[in-house]
Amino acid sequence: MKISELTVRYGRFTAVDSLSLEVPAGSVVGLVGESGSGKSTVARAVAGLTPCRGTVTGIDRARIQMVFQDPYSSLNPRMTVGASIAEGLGPQVRRAERTAGVARLLDLVALPAAAADKYPRELSGGQRQRVAVARALAAQPELLIADEITSAMDVSVQGAVLNLIRDLRTELGLSMLFISHNLAVVRYVADIVAVMRSGRLVEAGPVDEVIGSPQHDYTRALLDAVPRLAHS
Ligand SMILES: Nc1ncnc2c1ncn2[C@@H]1O[C@H](COP(=O)(O)OP(=O)(O)O)[C@@H](O)[C@H]1O
Ligand SMILES: [Mg+2]
Repeated sequence: MKISELTVRYGRFTAVDSLSLEVPAGSVVGLVGESGSGKSTVARAVAGLTPCRGTVTGIDRARIQMVFQDPYSSLNPRMTVGASIAEGLGPQVRRAERTAGVARLLDLVALPAAAADKYPRELSGGQRQRVAVARALAAQPELLIADEITSAMDVSVQGAVLNLIRDLRTELGLSMLFISHNLAVVRYVADIVAVMRSGRLVEAGPVDEVIGSPQHDYTRALLDAVPRLAHS
C-alpha cells in the first residue's frame, strides 16, 4: 500500500500536509507523533472515510480493517463475542463453518473457545481488544490499521496485546499501519517507523535506524518522553 502526497483539510486547517508513506506487503509500519499530529486523519483517509487529495494505491479499500482505542466502538455490547466475530466472517460463510471459524480466530488471538459465549462487558479491556482484532481479522484484510489500540490499557496488558500483534505479523504476514503516540510501543511492534508532526512526515525508516540515530530533534524528544518497554 502506497500513500502519495496525501493532504486532508478541515475547512482552512490542513491536518495532513502532502504526506507520502509506503506500507510494504507483510510489514508493520508504525506511525508515531504527539496527539493532534494527524495520525487518525491519515488512517481515516487511507480507509476512504475522509475526503482527501493525493493517492492511495496498491490496496483494495474494501479489504482494509480498522481497530480503535476503544474496542466498544467496534463491538456491539448486545452481541456475544462469537456473534461479533462471526459477523466479521461475512454472510457467505455457512453456519457450521462459522463456529469453526470463530474458534480458529479466538485461538489466533489467544482467547479460550468459551469466550465465544460471553458478552463484551464480561471481558477485561485487553480481552475485548483481542476480540476486536479477531473480528477485524475475520474479514481477511489486506491491511489492518490499528489506531492507538493499547493506549487505554495498563502497561501489563499492553505488553500482551503488543505480543499478539507481533505474533500475528509472523503467523499471517499481515500488512499493518500501527498508530500510536508512544514511540516505545511503536518500536516494539514495527519494522518501519514514520514520525509525524503537525500533519507532516518528519522522518521514516527502518525502526532500528530511526530509533538508533534519529535525524530530528522531534524524534529525539519523542524518544525521551516515553517510559521504555522491556525489549525482548
Ligand atoms: N473532524 C474534524 N474537524 C476539524 N478538525 C479536526 C477533525 N478531526 C481532527 N481534527 C483536527 O486535526 C488535527 C489532527 O487530528 P487527529 O488526526 O485526530 O490527530 P492524532 O490522531 O494524531 O491525535 C487536530 O488538530 C484535530 O483537532
Ligand atoms: Mg488519533
